[in-house]
Amino acid sequence: MRGERFQVAVVGAGAVGATSAYAMLVRGAARRVVLHDINAAKVRAEVLDLGHGAMFVPEAEIDGSDDVEICGGSDVVVVTAGAKQKPGQTRMDLAGATVDLMKKVLPAVQAVAPDAIYVLVTNPVDVVTYASLKITDLPPDRIFGSGTVLDSSRLRWLVSEACEVAVGNVHAYMAGEHGDTEVPLWSSAAIGGVPLTSWEQQTGRLGPARRDEIAHQVVNAAYEVIAGKGATNYAVGLAVARIVESIRRDENRVLPISTLLQDWHGITDVCMSVPTLVNARGAGQRLEVPLDDGELARLTASADAIRASARNLGF
Ligand code: LAC
Repeated sequence: MRGERFQVAVVGAGAVGATSAYAMLVRGAARRVVLHDINAAKVRAEVLDLGHGAMFVPEAEIDGSDDVEICGGSDVVVVTAGAKQKPGQTRMDLAGATVDLMKKVLPAVQAVAPDAIYVLVTNPVDVVTYASLKITDLPPDRIFGSGTVLDSSRLRWLVSEACEVAVGNVHAYMAGEHGDTEVPLWSSAAIGGVPLTSWEQQTGRLGPARRDEIAHQVVNAAYEVIAGKGATNYAVGLAVARIVESIRRDENRVLPISTLLQDWHGITDVCMSVPTLVNARGAGQRLEVPLDDGELARLTASADAIRASARNLGF
């Protein structure tokens, strides 16, 4: 049973961490949000700036410290600490430095928040999740990555714009790596219960070429945003808030989080995103959504890329 005063600790008070805290406060996703970062001045400033808006959001406490004790007793720990992706850098380029950081940060946080569910956001999130699973020795359902929850939102937004339907009626996933090898699951996509291919025939909208364009835009979305403003933060912060809400409310919501897969469509011993039930216990059933041969081949290649990076780092 999660804590009565449901507390979320956000480790890392950079753009992603601070925006994740903001999104959780705005959506009432937690009763108490604490920020932890080695930069005491930054934490203090973010806590003040968030606290100054307290009157406008659902009742919640906000606090923070450079002392890891502030994370004590958390129900969920969101890990955003890590190197920023620079223009032109891939997420995988950050793997070595980020995993070294996890080796330092996670044991200290786990010592004060041993019962928390850990949500990794730091990139490359799939490799970092797999490494963190080994570093913490947590059960696989209690530690997972935000994965392609964000990418699936990007995909649904672009499809909703192209088809002129509400984004809530677009059912489509990006799966695999949160990165360059991610895969759009077009074969299971639907709009309002109508399979996407039928929708295309009925309306004359979208079509294979436009779908390829959209998939390309999703894969390259972060690069475009980073080139223009230096970092992404709003959408990933909202994705984090949605994941945390699903835990707090024990929703069994289907979200493509990055979890340890064991024989998912034959893919095994890798952390990558597939549609998964998210609830108060963390990651639940990994749904074996139907795949066409091309999707399975691409997801297998995505798993191989993630696994190779993890092996290269000794995991
Ligand atoms: C992005 C970062 C969070 O895709 O990887 O915006």
